[in-house]
Amino acid sequence: MQPLLKLDAVEKHFVKKTYLGKESIFRAVDGVTLAVNKGDTLGIVGESGCGKSTLANLIVRLEEPTGGRIFLEGVEISHLPEARLRPLRPRIQIIFQDPYSSLNPRMNVEQIITEPMRVLGKWTQDDMRGKAVSLLNLVGLTSDHLRRYPHEFSGGQRQRLSIARALTTEPEILILDEPTSALDVSVQAQVLNLLQQLQKKLGLTYVFISHNLAVVKYVANRAAVMYLGKILETGKADDIMLNPVHPYTQELISAVPAIGKPLASNRPDCGNESNKKQVSSGCLYRLRCRQASSVCSQVMPELQDCGPDHQVACWEVGRNA
Ligand SMILES: Nc1ncnc2c1ncn2[C@@H]1O[C@H](COP(=O)(O)OP(=O)(O)OP(=O)(O)O)[C@@H](O)[C@H]1O
Ligand SMILES: [Mg+2]
Repeated sequence: MQPLLKLDAVEKHFVKKTYLGKESIFRAVDGVTLAVNKGDTLGIVGESGCGKSTLANLIVRLEEPTGGRIFLEGVEISHLPEARLRPLRPRIQIIFQDPYSSLNPRMNVEQIITEPMRVLGKWTQDDMRGKAVSLLNLVGLTSDHLRRYPHEFSGGQRQRLSIARALTTEPEILILDEPTSALDVSVQAQVLNLLQQLQKKLGLTYVFISHNLAVVKYVANRAAVMYLGKILETGKADDIMLNPVHPYTQELISAVPAIGKPLASNRPDCGNESNKKQVSSGCLYRLRCRQASSVCSQVMPELQDCGPDHQVACWEVGRNA
């Protein structure tokens, strides 16, 4: 079966200038290969700055990749000129972490929701209003909200509004970049449940980005663990959560607080900013890894099978397999 969305060695390298004017390359996304099948929820998890949002922006072409290719149902979209990309854009939509800054404060709800429809130019004003009302109902808001402005909503309602707007173009794939991180816990659960209901009802495919493993475990059937621009482990979400193989995934899982679990005991060293920096050779994670050996400082390991439908990029795992 052809994946709906496929990433093949996708890269985004930024040129950074030091205060002395020297240039260096920063590999925000580095050789990411992933496949997402129709109806899947792929959870991408990793700590702040590992390149999750850059990857999301690459998929929807808000950023241009510096290498690799992205395919939508077999059609390469990563290097299509804008005119040829435009008809495909409605098929993939993105939802951002902060609904307040992603909604235009000068537009009311009707204008916000109908704007993408106006750009597509396929509907009359009455059709657009009718469609806006049914989208509002779909996300748990009502027609009474049409005349309101974003500042008149709570955070959870604003995120529902962002979801309604993303659905106007009848997308197949939603890229959800930390969609619940700005919300309090009870509202998070409501929005996650709404996303799950919408997925079932509309047959959507999700790429769900989060730094929160518990959230990924709740929503995703597949998962990829990202560290400094690379995928270190990928497979079925349950396998990764219950049987994490990479030392970094183990670290992430042990860092999830749980009732009755002492925070400091038996936890791997979580490291600090200084050992999170990109290394010039070898495994990116080796400066933080308890299991690192001499081979780890020489070459970055590629993803390799460590179980059925489960891959990991780790020399130690390869040796023990
Ligand atoms: N336009 C840019 N120019 C230079 N560096 C950038 C640019 N955009 C992102 N970066 C760098 O790329 C890295 C990844 O950033 P990104 O926003 O993708 O991380 P993230 O995983 O989404 O983090 P968070 O969880 O905090 O949202 C960061 O170190 C960031 O400084
Ligand atoms: Mg981000």
